[in-house]
Amino acid sequence: MLEEVKLFVAENADQVEQFRIRFMARKGLISELFDQFKEVPPSDRRELGLLINELKVSTQEKLDYFKNLFEQSEKATGETIDLTLPAGFREPGTRHPLSIVRSEMIRIFSRLGFTVNDGPEIEDDWHNFSALNFPPEHPARDMQDTFFIAKDPDIALRTHTSSVQVRVMETTKPPIRAIFPGRVYRNEAISARAHCFFHQIEGLYIDHDVSFADLKQTLLYFAREMFSVDTQIRLRPSYFPFTEPSAEMDISCNLCGGKGCGFCKYTGWVEILGCGMVDPNVLENCGIDSKEYTGFAFGIGIERITNLRFQVKDLRMFSENDLRFLRQFEGAF
Ligand code: DAH
Repeated sequence: MLEEVKLFVAENADQVEQFRIRFMARKGLISELFDQFKEVPPSDRRELGLLINELKVSTQEKLDYFKNLFEQSEKATGETIDLTLPAGFREPGTRHPLSIVRSEMIRIFSRLGFTVNDGPEIEDDWHNFSALNFPPEHPARDMQDTFFIAKDPDIALRTHTSSVQVRVMETTKPPIRAIFPGRVYRNEAISARAHCFFHQIEGLYIDHDVSFADLKQTLLYFAREMFSVDTQIRLRPSYFPFTEPSAEMDISCNLCGGKGCGFCKYTGWVEILGCGMVDPNVLENCGIDSKEYTGFAFGIGIERITNLRFQVKDLRMFSENDLRFLRQFEGAF
């Protein structure tokens, strides 16, 4: 019994109680020993008495030790810790569709040697408008109404990622070949087709002898990598203050293959971006010699590309955090 007590270890309070009952209860082993003690011949009593006493003391010690141990952990956690319980399951998250498409766009342009930069969402008038050739009273500013602060009208939430063109040109000597992904803001009523914030990827390429043909080939490559090898592109003349000439680019509708459907309003084409040759005034505003360098720029709406890619019909889905929507992108990479 002494040996048994010496080797005893308890894993929980229940085992301590079992141990107590086995040795110390009124009908336990130790009281049984005391009962039998009466029948022991007087000559052996002394030796046996010492052993029983030793047993009693070490049993009590063990009991005190383990009782104390489990009481402490119970106090700390309010319950006994079952280390064998399986851990709670945490569902893996999903990537946001806009993040999926943004990464894919970055991957496509990086294959053409474009690097990635970013700039601030809180911008000043110079970087968002003036340096980009929007004079103070120019009506083109109206189309990009945004959020200003009353205290300082020079500061606003940027309306486009074109502001990063200025920041990069001001601080980098050409050649420049970079894209600028980011969030932009407009003072728009929120609906299925418009939101007060959305995302763009801006592209800028400045070097010796950059031509409109380079722009067109770059965008054709992008469209075919992003959608399919037989995607067609179409450039329509347009106006932006910071490019000359300027164009808007359509791709052949990726739902009907250009035949015409409800999605492309039976035109066979859908608009995806604005682009053009960087206006010499903009180069000069940013300290780049427009006699030496030319360049092109483009701005693509990430929501637009995502809508086409995944047929999302309502822009609000992107920011409502509805898990039924977000979980549909579980398998996307
Ligand atoms: N910044 C324009 C917008 O948000 C889009 C754009 C048009 C960007 C032409 C460009 C460009 O870089 O060349 O409406």
